[in-house]
Amino acid sequence: MKDEDKKVLKELMESSQAFLPPRFFYNSLGGTLFEAITKLKEYTPTNDELSIFESNLLDIKRILPPRICLIDLGAGNCSKAEKVIPTLRPEIFLAVDLPSAFFRQSVATLTKSFENQKIFALEKDFTVGLLMSEITEIVGADISTCSTVIFFPGSTIGNYSPEEAKKFLLSIEHDFIILGVDLIKPEHEMINAYDDCLGITAAFNKNALLNANELLDTDFEVSNWEHRAIFNSLESRIEMHLVAKNTHEVKSPFGARLFNQGESIHTENSHKYSVETFKDLLLDSGYSDIVDFPHPSKRYAIFVAKGNKLS
Ligand code: AVI
Repeated sequence: MKDEDKKVLKELMESSQAFLPPRFFYNSLGGTLFEAITKLKEYTPTNDELSIFESNLLDIKRILPPRICLIDLGAGNCSKAEKVIPTLRPEIFLAVDLPSAFFRQSVATLTKSFENQKIFALEKDFTVGLLMSEITEIVGADISTCSTVIFFPGSTIGNYSPEEAKKFLLSIEHDFIILGVDLIKPEHEMINAYDDCLGITAAFNKNALLNANELLDTDFEVSNWEHRAIFNSLESRIEMHLVAKNTHEVKSPFGARLFNQGESIHTENSHKYSVETFKDLLLDSGYSDIVDFPHPSKRYAIFVAKGNKLS
């Protein structure tokens, strides 16, 4: 077992509030379930983001320097890259995501669609950091002639706390950023987005237990758990939990843990911002020249800003 997984397992088995990090959602089934989530009418970020790009991509391009290396964090199925590459026309495109056959195949398909585009892939958990030397190693010396632009769509930044988000943004050296943020909206809309009527998000959440069984050698029985999404208004975030339906024991290489009925495993936070609170976060993280592109519904916004390297 990897050292980082040992740490996760220890916390899962010993902390009074058990926590399983969101990366446990994304095995191959989880990737497919997430794709299904993005097609749900209750889950609006993906479609809102797409429509912002459709209406504003040329304006976004005008903000950026002419020669860019676009670094797509969490590129996944590369569908967003496919949408933005023709207009942003990066000199170099680098897709970054966790290692998987699905990701490799997506980059291969993208490469076929854009024959004259320099496309590279870096298989890495970027949430633990991303160094310029790692980027240069993949894309080569050409990077020195380009401005680096972090492309961080999908509101993944919301899965960090504001403090973690600042730390993360400051840890990656870059010239510009384009990122998507899910905005605060009526509570019932936010809850429905994370507790849809088809139960896809419930399956996505429970699948983390199957992945834990695989990676942490636990023996979670999925039928003992139910999905719960709550809005924590103090922290301005949706929290996803798995709640024990009955009192039972879960075994692991680090010993067993008794989960009482009603006890939960916290699996994800998804922070929601207003345009103003997110601008403040960007300012605190050293960005300048911040431009926001909100969706007409005010449910989602894209931000473009000059990065900490240039300020
Ligand atoms: C990847 N991330 C931005 C999604 C979110 O909205 O926090 C993951 C997700 N969890 C439940 N539904 C979607």
